[in-house]
Amino acid sequence: MSASHPRPGFSHPSDLASFLEMLGRFERGEIGADAWRAFRLLRGNYPQRQGGEENMLRVKLPQGIATAGQLRALAEVAERHSRAFAHVTTRENVQFHFVQSAELPAALTRLAEAGLTTVEACGNAVRNVVGCPFAGVAADEPFDPTPYAEAVSRHFLRHPLSSTLPRKFKIAFEGCSEDHVLTPIHDLGFRARVEGGRRGFAVTAAGGTATLCAAGQPLTPFLPAGEVLDLVEAVLRVFHRLGDRQNRKKNRMKFLVRQLGWERFQAEVAAERERVRAEGGARLPFDAEAAPEERAPEGRAPAPSPAEVAALATAGSLTGPGLHPRVSPTLDPGAAAFEAWRASNVRPQRQPGLAAVTALLPLGDATSGQLRALALLAEAYGDGTVRFTRTQDAVLRWVPEEALVGLYLRLAAAGLGLAGAGTAADVVACPGAETCRLAVTQSRGVARLVEDHLRARPALAAAAPGLEVNVSGCPNGCSQHHVAGIGLQGSARKLEGGAVPQYFLLVGGGVVGGEARFGRLAAKIPARRVPAAVERLIGLYQAEREAGESAPAFLARVEVARVKALLRDLEAIDAASARPEDYVDPGDDRPFRPGEETT
Ligand code: HEM
Ligand code: SF4
Repeated sequence: MSASHPRPGFSHPSDLASFLEMLGRFERGEIGADAWRAFRLLRGNYPQRQGGEENMLRVKLPQGIATAGQLRALAEVAERHSRAFAHVTTRENVQFHFVQSAELPAALTRLAEAGLTTVEACGNAVRNVVGCPFAGVAADEPFDPTPYAEAVSRHFLRHPLSSTLPRKFKIAFEGCSEDHVLTPIHDLGFRARVEGGRRGFAVTAAGGTATLCAAGQPLTPFLPAGEVLDLVEAVLRVFHRLGDRQNRKKNRMKFLVRQLGWERFQAEVAAERERVRAEGGARLPFDAEAAPEERAPEGRAPAPSPAEVAALATAGSLTGPGLHPRVSPTLDPGAAAFEAWRASNVRPQRQPGLAAVTALLPLGDATSGQLRALALLAEAYGDGTVRFTRTQDAVLRWVPEEALVGLYLRLAAAGLGLAGAGTAADVVACPGAETCRLAVTQSRGVARLVEDHLRARPALAAAAPGLEVNVSGCPNGCSQHHVAGIGLQGSARKLEGGAVPQYFLLVGGGVVGGEARFGRLAAKIPARRVPAAVERLIGLYQAEREAGESAPAFLARVEVARVKALLRDLEAIDAASARPEDYVDPGDDRPFRPGEETT
């Protein structure tokens, strides 16, 4: 069974050889620790907070797409070299944690066999080019941006400019009117447009969040689709030539634009585009006006029984430190559960009679068994692929409507049948202090508290469709909390009795109509009280919304003072009122010591 759109892999045989060669040079003392670190990052390999031999390995999944065969490879790598589960990131990648250094070559080999690459997944490079998970099947897109995003991915992967940039560079493609990939927080954001019958993109540049939130500015309202590669090349050249290589904290392209001014930046890009054109430029590997189209799969594999799926999903055991996914297979979920799931997790495709289905992955985690189950279900019900999303879920597409019940029964059997996609119960979280060196708090622990709180009160999450709760363990914002309806950023508060983990609570972030709106700081909430704060905010929305107003829209307009007053008692904590557990970061079991790395 193959995908409806066969897709060559992204791995290259020379990648492993060059990794081993550099490792050898480092081990023989021919290159220093800094050079080795820079190289490792360009191969998707971060040192973890624990130091020593523990590594994070990020697999680059262009447009978040993984075939069934690739899901099986990810499952194997997770089982053999990580904790027997994988973590989906907000930029549509998959990460493994606690991979021992000595096992990296074996992991890279298995990934490469499946066409998967880690090249330029981290480091100062053109990072994964993200794409809308509903592209190609969405009702309101002017055309499918996927082939163009894929062409950019391939053209710039291992491109000489790509790995020699001053800093990382992020690109996103969207076709829907709702922005599922948050184009304006990217270095380059492309939104599909048709003008005068021609395909093209509205392009924004120099967005980003972290310690300086900047909305991408309109670079061109309509870039003819055939000029996509040349425009990216021109912008990369400008950034490569003029970007700051000294001050690492201030060298994303948004800082260059600030320094040069928008007019000068635009002029530099225009001049560079002329040069690229004069040199002949680069051509898309297809007719820009008639890109390859996805079609319904011609045949589907037979469906496994729910019992088989449950056995597969629960096989093996999870290992290693940190919060593990909780797999709860349900063999008889009932009609009401199906209806609730259908309401939140199923979206009709523009192709009649077919649907795109979201399998919700709590904390973005999927076990090896669940990845294998997803592979089988993608082959039996979808087109043999899944698309991982910014909200850390997996979307199966091309599912016949009459097969939805069957698919749901099997997803539930795999412990993947949770309802509430696109609600506050589908909490987004960065890896946080469990593994990340930069973290202040264990974002995953609080994310799980919020999720458990809302799962126990399903009416609450259902009352605020479209509301996102995103949790980051530090200001870098890898969960994209700056652009969430409720954004949480880990921090610490000193009391006489010790340090209390707390979260900066931002309200009203989001991307609407191509514009990024950054959340406003409303309160600083001790970690254990965060679920109560989320509940109150949903209550406030229910009590004070205008007719037809969505929760994200309400949170964007509500006065910060109103929210602060609502949360005042939760915010106030002192040595007398703090309970012993307030000094322990959720997700950890020892007293909270900010700044101290876990062992
Ligand atoms: C070891 C773990 C990590 C480290 C050390 C790290 C480092 C950083 C830093 C320093 C920034 C701010 C840089 C800037 O915008 O100039 C940042 C932002 C960001 N990172 Fe991470 N990160 C880690 C993990 C992750 C993960 C797991 C993801 C999820 C894919 C991620 C995705 C992002 C995103 C989305 C942003 C925010 C803003 C943007 O897109 O510009 N990072 N990270
Ligand atoms: S937001 Fe901070 S804590 Fe979370 S992964 Fe990013 S750098 Fe680490």
